[in-house]
Amino acid sequence: MPVHTPAPYPAARLRRLRRTAALRDLVAEHRLAPADLIWPVFIREGEGVEEAVPSMPGVARLSLDMLRRKAEAAHALGITTICLFPYTAQELRTEDCAEAWNPENLTNRAIRMLKADLPGLSVMTDIALDPYNINGHDGFVVEGEIVNDETVQALVKMALAQAEAGADILGPSDMMDGRIGAIRLALESAGHRGVAILSYAAKFASGFYGPFRDAVGASGRLVGDKKTYQIDPANRAEALRCIARDLDEGADMVMVKPGMPYLDICRAAKDEFGLPVCAYQVSGEYAMLQAAAQMGWLDGEKVMLESLLAFRRAGCDAILTYFAPEAARALRG
Ligand code: PBG
Repeated sequence: MPVHTPAPYPAARLRRLRRTAALRDLVAEHRLAPADLIWPVFIREGEGVEEAVPSMPGVARLSLDMLRRKAEAAHALGITTICLFPYTAQELRTEDCAEAWNPENLTNRAIRMLKADLPGLSVMTDIALDPYNINGHDGFVVEGEIVNDETVQALVKMALAQAEAGADILGPSDMMDGRIGAIRLALESAGHRGVAILSYAAKFASGFYGPFRDAVGASGRLVGDKKTYQIDPANRAEALRCIARDLDEGADMVMVKPGMPYLDICRAAKDEFGLPVCAYQVSGEYAMLQAAAQMGWLDGEKVMLESLLAFRRAGCDAILTYFAPEAARALRG
């Protein structure tokens, strides 16, 4: 972008266009709208249940009837997409993770319910084995190793079950090699030609996922860390290579995750590939802002909206954020 050298003062006074709200709005370079937000929601069994997640103030695990109510309200606020994360009953977490591709599992039932009751709302899913795995990993663990190809086969089964249930967007978040190509091929073969894949292509091995693991009940279980499959936070070129690879394999959109500490990756992804880029403002980012707001150290609404606008400025088309309903409400004034 050519940057014109401003005329010298006083011909140029940059404050002229900052003088009033109307002038500032007129020249605002980026905007945030409820339609840009994807709302990640934790779901659980039961009825009338809204179970608070202590490390994520304001976030609760919802039973499906509550999900329906809250999804309807979010949709009415202009949110277009909900992303489901299951809190799987403890007895259904096994080494073979079979619950992950059960057509009647919690997520698949939630997809069917939402698509029947709110057809205008897009439903996104997560594809990874961690909510179903006895050891909290995203893939099968064999003799201490997270095995790639066997995991990809399981992820394909999971993807097909979700597509069958009516999911609009599948979100593989597992970071196994080759999963996008395998899922795309299986979807095409099964006739699911319109199902979009939002690949978590640039997913870093981050400390900011802690509260999420509490929310899905994986924290106590996780053995070791995820560094053999998620990207080293030191690596930018590798993240771009992952994005290029996933696009070649059939991803429609890509995710950068976490968000705020990785805005440089968002910008690079947008500039290099020009495709829809999403950022995930993850649980730890949410928790930090909420905690500081609760202490009275930050103005919660201001930093919420500022942090979300930053993603738009960095080139993101959409943002996954636990703030989605609150932000949509604030944006609508
Ligand atoms: C797991 C998954 C994680 C998140 C989304 N999907 C956690 C992890 O990789 O350990 C994190 C989201 C967040 O922190 O908000 N496949």
